[in-house]
Amino acid sequence: MLDKLNKMQQEAMELINKAVSMVDTEEIKNRYLSRKSELNYIKKSLKDLDAEMRPKVGALANEIANKIQTVLEEKEQFLYQQELNKKLEKDAIDITLPGKTIPTGKIHPLTRTVNEITEIFQGLGFSLVESKNSPEVETEYYNFDALNFPADHPAKDMQDTYYTKVAPNVLLRSQTSGAQVRTMENKKPPIRVISPGRVYRNESVSARKNNLFHQIEGLVVDKNITFADLKGTLNEFTRIYFGEARPTRFRTSFFPFTEPSAEIDVQCIMCKGKGCRTCSQTGWLEILGAGMVDPNVLKGVGIDPEVYTGFAFGMGVERLTMLKYAINDIRLFFNNDVRFLEQF
Ligand code: PHE
Repeated sequence: MLDKLNKMQQEAMELINKAVSMVDTEEIKNRYLSRKSELNYIKKSLKDLDAEMRPKVGALANEIANKIQTVLEEKEQFLYQQELNKKLEKDAIDITLPGKTIPTGKIHPLTRTVNEITEIFQGLGFSLVESKNSPEVETEYYNFDALNFPADHPAKDMQDTYYTKVAPNVLLRSQTSGAQVRTMENKKPPIRVISPGRVYRNESVSARKNNLFHQIEGLVVDKNITFADLKGTLNEFTRIYFGEARPTRFRTSFFPFTEPSAEIDVQCIMCKGKGCRTCSQTGWLEILGAGMVDPNVLKGVGIDPEVYTGFAFGMGVERLTMLKYAINDIRLFFNNDVRFLEQF
């Protein structure tokens, strides 16, 4: 019996030695250590042995079972590591490969400028006009008549725009100034709003002009508003938008809906005032028109010009963007060339 046990141990050790996978070790475990194994059977039948043999066989059987268990566990551990390593090697990722770049969209430079300017004016106490007061498809009344343009005034020629066929006198607005009238019709002073949006003009397209562009309109109406408020507000705006270094100038001008009127120019960024293609050799670029709201406009919307005064301004978003980033052709904004757009 002892011989038989020793032989069994030897046999088990050989099998463990030869095992190459966890399937093999599992099989060995079943064969030698399970309840149905021969070794277990021997342990259970110790009672049938005589008193002299019983402790010897029992001790050896236990010893062998323990030995097999220990060696088998070691082997199992070894095989587990080996299989794990193989798997890791197979699934390994080469972290030195360059990653795939997923292209992300960007905010269009014009939208950026609109957002930036909106924030500056919000900081100065302005709020954004309700979009219903600033439609792109507008009537001749709000685009011209209510803004004090006499029917055949030459000022209308400078804003020749596109008329639609949806109804008589319905056009694509040539300026955001209609928003002034609509706002004053719907809101009592004090008023302090800005209104960004698209405008259209029948222009021949060039480096400076496009027939679609963007403006930001501003309107303040309250008691005791003077030209000093206008100048202070717009100087503060140019200071924040450009930084103190950029020279600006106020020039007298004419708009039917403001009196007096002014145009504000910023020194041309391309030539630093020397004169170039971008600034039509003048050294200056007009960025906005402004003025005190004409009493006729106030009367037209039922605001008493003896009690209230106000100022308004309208600025070109393309022009302001070109100045800030030294862009020399307005058409770049509309060509959708990603090589240009990616730079912002
Ligand atoms: N609407 C004018 C333009 O398009 C600009 C302007 C706005 C001037 C408000 C004065 C007041 O040229």
